[in-house]
Amino acid sequence: MKAVVLVGGFGTRLRPLTLTTPKQMLPVIDRPMLEHVIGGLGRHGVDEVTLSLGYKEDVFREAYPDARCAGVALKYAVEPEPLDTAGAVRFAANAAGIDETFIVINGDVFTDLDVSAVWQRHHEVGAEGTIALTPVDDPSRYGVVPTDPDGRVTGFVEKPPRDEAPTNWINAGTYVLEPSVLDRIDADRRVSIERETFPALVADGGLWAVKSDAYWVDAGTPYTYLQIQMDLLDGVRGEKVNGVSPDASIDPAARVERSVIMGGASVAAGAVVRDAVVSTGAVIRSEAVVDGSVVGPGAVVGDRAKVTGLTMIGDGMVVEAGAALDGVKFPESG
Ligand code: GDD
Ligand code: MG
Repeated sequence: MKAVVLVGGFGTRLRPLTLTTPKQMLPVIDRPMLEHVIGGLGRHGVDEVTLSLGYKEDVFREAYPDARCAGVALKYAVEPEPLDTAGAVRFAANAAGIDETFIVINGDVFTDLDVSAVWQRHHEVGAEGTIALTPVDDPSRYGVVPTDPDGRVTGFVEKPPRDEAPTNWINAGTYVLEPSVLDRIDADRRVSIERETFPALVADGGLWAVKSDAYWVDAGTPYTYLQIQMDLLDGVRGEKVNGVSPDASIDPAARVERSVIMGGASVAAGAVVRDAVVSTGAVIRSEAVVDGSVVGPGAVVGDRAKVTGLTMIGDGMVVEAGAALDGVKFPESG
C-alpha cells in the first residue's frame, strides 16, 4: 500500500516551536512526530510513503538522507508553493507516479486507527473515496461528516460554527482514494480537499466513511502536543513510556513529575517540572517551576522563574531569573 502523508503546513498554532522546526518534525518523547505516524502506517501494511512537503522541507530531507523512515521507504514531493490539502495530494501523487488505490494521512494525527479496515471497506462498497471518522466533543475545530446508516457520506462541513455541526463524528484525517479523485483536482492552484473535493464527491455519492473510536488526537495545538505525550507517559496507549531520556541530567534535589525530559536537557536542584515537556538541551535552573508547558530546544528557564498554563517557549529563548510566564507564547511575535 502506498500513502501520501501531508506535512507541508506552517504549523501556526504551534508557534514559536514551529518557527524553527516544522510541526511533524517536533519531537514526541524520543523521536519526531512523523516517525510515530509513519511507524503506525508501516504496522498496517504501508510500504511506501510520499511526503507532501512545503514549509521547511529541507528539515525532513536532512533527517532521512537514506529515504527511509520507521522502516518505510520515503519519497519526497516538494510543492513550489502551498497548494492546500487537495492540491498537495494531487501534486504528491503525480510526483510519486501513483496510479492505484492509495492512502492519504494528515501528518499530525496520532491514532491507533486501523487503516486496513478503511481500505477493506473502501473496496467492499466500491467507493471513490473512503474516510475514517472519529467522535469528538467539540466538532467545530474539524471537518464534520454526517453519513447514512450504511456509511455513505451525506455531507462534509469543514469547521462549522459550534451550534451548527450536524454530528460529532469528524474527519479523522485518514483517507483511502481512487486515482480518479486526482482528476477532480485542478492543477496549479490551491484546492482544499475538505472544502472542495470532498463536497463534490458527496454530491456524486462516491464518498464513504468508516467510524472508529480508536485512540485519536490531532497533535497540532499546544494542548494536544502536550496531551499525546502525557498519554504515552500515562499508558493510555498501551505500555507506559518513560519520558526521561538517559542523556538528561536531573539533580537529585529536583522534582520531575509526569514529564518528558529530552536528551541533553538539565533540571537543577529545587526545580519542579510537572506535566511538561522539556526539549533537547533545554536548561531548567534552580528553584524554577515548569508546569503544563513546553520548553523548546536549548531554551533556558532562569532561577526561580515560573513557566505555567500552556506556555510555549521557543528555540533558545531565555526566561529571566524570577520571571513569571503564564499561558503565553515566548517570543510573543511567534
Ligand atoms: N503539502 C501541504 N501543502 N500540506 C499541507 C498544506 C499545504 O498547502 N496545508 C496543510 N497541510 C498539511 C498539514 O501539515 C497537516 O499535516 C495537514 O495538511 C492538515 O492540516 P492542518 O492545518 O493540521 O488541518 P486541521 O487540523 O485544521 O484540519 C484537518 O485535520 C482534521 C483532523 O485532524 C482537516 O482535514 C479536518 O477536516 C480534519 O477533521
Ligand atoms: Mg491538524
